[in-house]
Amino acid sequence: MKVDVLLGLQWGDEGKGKIVDVLTPKYDIIGRFQGGPNAGHTLEFNGIKHVLRTIPSGIFHESSINIIGNGVVIDPVVLIAEIDALIKMGVDVKSKLFFAQKAHLILPSHRLLDAASEASKGKEKIGSTLKGIGPTYMDKTGRNGIRIGDIILPNFKEKYNALVEKHKQILSHHNFDYDLSSMEPEWFAAIEQLKTYKVIESEHYINNALKENKAILAEGAQGSLLDIDFGSYPFVTSSNTICAGACTGLGIAPNRIGNVFGIFKAYCTRVGSGPFPTELFDEIGDQIRNNGREFGSVTGRPRRTGWLDLPALKYAVMINGVTELLMMKADILSGLETIKVCTAYTYQGKQIDYLPYDYSPELLTPVYTELRGWNQDLTGLNQPDQMPEALNEYIAFIEKATGVPISVVSVGPDRTQTLIRKKELV
Ligand code: GDP
Ligand code: IMO
Ligand code: MG
Repeated sequence: MKVDVLLGLQWGDEGKGKIVDVLTPKYDIIGRFQGGPNAGHTLEFNGIKHVLRTIPSGIFHESSINIIGNGVVIDPVVLIAEIDALIKMGVDVKSKLFFAQKAHLILPSHRLLDAASEASKGKEKIGSTLKGIGPTYMDKTGRNGIRIGDIILPNFKEKYNALVEKHKQILSHHNFDYDLSSMEPEWFAAIEQLKTYKVIESEHYINNALKENKAILAEGAQGSLLDIDFGSYPFVTSSNTICAGACTGLGIAPNRIGNVFGIFKAYCTRVGSGPFPTELFDEIGDQIRNNGREFGSVTGRPRRTGWLDLPALKYAVMINGVTELLMMKADILSGLETIKVCTAYTYQGKQIDYLPYDYSPELLTPVYTELRGWNQDLTGLNQPDQMPEALNEYIAFIEKATGVPISVVSVGPDRTQTLIRKKELV
């Protein structure tokens, strides 16, 4: 068997949580491979709306095993709160959720460092979710980090103290007030709770499962344009959000990757700072934000909105080797007379159809093609052949530009509001 990978192709919040939940019945194991509680993956079913932060979005299905991979950074406090909420809903978390021994821990002082670093950047700030993601990955690559596997070691507290000392040193160079001692008790209490869960050598577990022909889906967080290497650096997150991240974040060899499901919204959104070529500052932008409820699921911040950006989408398709596209939130574009799609940019006096090194707004202007819109409310559709002709044209236009089929069209937040154009997927 191969491992299928599901990831976001834009700046995050594409609807990954919803689709993982829809696809989970086909899989035995769902593994998150990177990111941490900066993510917010929303699922809706039976009138319940739930946001997951670190836990894979397969957790609501009876028979699925959910693994938090070594590439993920874990804040024990957030994780335990997430677990408690699921237990209250009757989910048997203890038997279905495993952690990779090698996943790194977010310390309270990582969160302080994140806040101090952002404060010191002023107008240049990244717009981080302030969950300690950047500082934790810095300690990981700097070889100072603490991993889940360490929590049972006799010298765990010493390791913790040594790392916190380093952090205090750094914080002393910032003009930043903090009270670490008030944050520590709940962190250590959460560590004690974590000890009661299954911490596994996940790379062995996953590769053994593959030998036993188990079906595995790797769930990404954030999106390709926030990738540390290929995103709009420095306005990115601190992990590899792209398909290659599934290999390093779960211990899967590249030749074991199967389908790559690339999720994108029918338009674009971005939360936080950084370039966004097709950003709208007009009523249409507001309309998309309001109808699409484009407010961050983690921070509540309004998301920036704009037209679909095909050069950016093609870039993400290329970097990830996307085999299937899944288009989300088509319902939000209903009622627009025309829909614009960016097909190229004017960049330094020339027209280009690829994403350049620096795509700051002052350097480039989008070139748009206008397609006709549709009026029909899509939220009640249950078959792809009910889609309005103009939506079919929109889909065909994107498929032609990217060379990849759009296998799923999502028309609402609920599990059931999903039009499957390729039957084998579910
Ligand atoms: P993720 O981070 O990629 O999992 O996405 P988020 O959960 O942060 O944001 C996606 C939002 O859109 C959530 O509120 C979903 O419930 C919602 N959503 C997902 N698909 C659709 C859709 O097709 N239509 C509408 N209207 N909402 C959707
Ligand atoms: P999901 O998985 C959207 C953005 C932040 C900020 C930048 C860096 O729900 O799609 P960080 O906290 O990682 O240092 O922030 O990345 N960001 C996200 N935007 N969805 C996410 O996750 C995000 N996770 C981080 O807003 O611009
Ligand atoms: Mg999200």
